[in-house]
Order: sequence, then C-alpha cells, then structure tokens
Amino acid sequence: MSLDLKDVSLKRNGKWLLHSVNWQVKEKENWVLYGLNGAGKTALLNMLCSYYFPTSGEMTVLGHVFGKEALGEKLRKKIGLISAGLEKKLHPDDRAFEIVLSGAFASIGLYESPTDDMREKAIDLLKAFGSIKYANRTYETLSQGEKQKVLIARALMNDPELLILDEPVTGLDFLAREQVLDMISMIASKPDAPTLLYTTHHAEDISPVFQHTLLLKEGTVFCKGETKQMMTSDTLTSFFNCPVEVMWRNERPHLIKL
Ligand SMILES: Nc1ncnc2c1ncn2[C@@H]1O[C@H](COP(=O)(O)OP(=O)(O)O)[C@@H](O)[C@H]1O
Ligand SMILES: [Mg+2]
Repeated sequence: MSLDLKDVSLKRNGKWLLHSVNWQVKEKENWVLYGLNGAGKTALLNMLCSYYFPTSGEMTVLGHVFGKEALGEKLRKKIGLISAGLEKKLHPDDRAFEIVLSGAFASIGLYESPTDDMREKAIDLLKAFGSIKYANRTYETLSQGEKQKVLIARALMNDPELLILDEPVTGLDFLAREQVLDMISMIASKPDAPTLLYTTHHAEDISPVFQHTLLLKEGTVFCKGETKQMMTSDTLTSFFNCPVEVMWRNERPHLIKL
C-alpha cells in the first residue's frame, strides 16, 4: 500500500481544509485528484509530503505512520514532488543540468559535489525526455514546457517510490502540454515506475495511465474509483452541480457544459 488515509482532516490557520478523507492507494496504482481551484488538492498533497500534519485521523505514507516518528526528510527522499511551490523556490540562474542534479540531494541549488554516477543519471534523464539540448541553459530562459520537463527529471533523480505531479500542465500551451503528458506516460510505462499522483482541474488533461480518480470538492471526497466510472456525465453533473456532458476522445475525457 502506498497511501492509507483514514478519516483524515486538516485544519490550518483556523480553517478546515480537508474533512474526513478516506483514501487507499495500492502500489503502482496511478491516481488523479480532480477538483476545482480551492478544493484542497494541494493541501492534501502537502500533507502526504509531511509539510502539513493531519489534525485528526490516521495516515500512512509509503509505510511511514504519521505521529509515530519524525518524518520530514526521511519521507521526502522517497517522494518526487513537482509543484508551483517548488518552482518558486528554484534559483532562476541555475542551469537546467544543475537543477536536475540537485534532485539527488533533494536540495534547491547544488551545495554538495555530485558523483559521476549522479552526473550520468542526470544526463540519461535529460536525454530520455529530449531535454539534453537545453541542459546548459539557465532555468529562467526555458519555456514553461521545458521547465516542467526539467522539474520532472529532477524529481526522478532519487528513484522516488511516489511521484506527485501537482498541476504539471496547467498554463502550458497545447503542444507543451502534450509533450509533458507523453513524458508522464513514458514514466508510468517503465517496469520500475513509481506510484503516480496527478492533480488537475481540466478533465482533458487526464491521460489513460491514470486509471483511478478521486473527485475532491470543498475538502471532501465526493467519490473515488476507476477513472472511467468517475468521469461520466451523471457523476460530474452532480459533482459540479451544473449539467455537463463528458465525451471521450483518444481515451481522454472532455467536458462540455450543457
Ligand atoms: N496554509 C493555509 N492556511 C489557510 N488556508 C489555506 C492554506 N492553504 C490553503 N488554504 C485554503 O484552502 C483551500 C484549498 O487550497 P488548495 O489546497 O490550494 O486548493 P487546490 O490545490 O485544490 O486549488 C483554499 O481555499 C485555500 O485558500
Ligand atoms: Mg493546487
């Protein structure tokens, strides 16, 4: 089991962000967290990475029981996280190659000397994702899509057991989005692939590698299960409280307001 959340609630600064979340994720199951802006997706992911501690309930992440041990770094070394929050912390004048390498130390910037193996691994990852051509460019000069690919490569440096992608394609143009989605499919297809968690508020960004979906609404699990059964016209009409139709194209759901 990768994740086991039983009745988990989270209160921050006097506000309840999550209410009684029950969620089990088995190893190698890839899940989407789908919900509107403000639903609590990022809050939930921050809790999984132990940036936030659950206010009540029981939570186990990658075998670590919250409340029994000091987690923090130990847990985060097993998790690759890509988020807007991380992006803001990066040094814009670091080169793409250094940013990928820094993933080996889970650090922002390179303060320790990387080994030859680490360098080789960073180069392999950049090559595998077609990013080697801009490996020596500074991060700030990359396009949004190139930046996102560099961040994903960085997250893979430590061979994480869990890869968390928080809105990795939001704000990307159509082609860049498709490239990042292809990259995610490639990662998921490897025999030693990590468990993937992916958040979005766009149905059409849900690729077929995500066979499970949790619908999150106002900090509450609206429902969860197989993506094909969650992303239906009926379920989403009651989820949004607004009549919608779901059309499937290329094994991806597309949403139309009726
Ligand atoms: N540390 C915090 N303290 C108080 N409120 C917060 C905090 N973090 C997030 N929120 C609020 O919690 C809600 C959920 O936020 P978030 O998890 O970022 O949503 P999502 O990622 O689904 O868009 C929002 O209303 C947000 O303003
Ligand atoms: Mg968010």
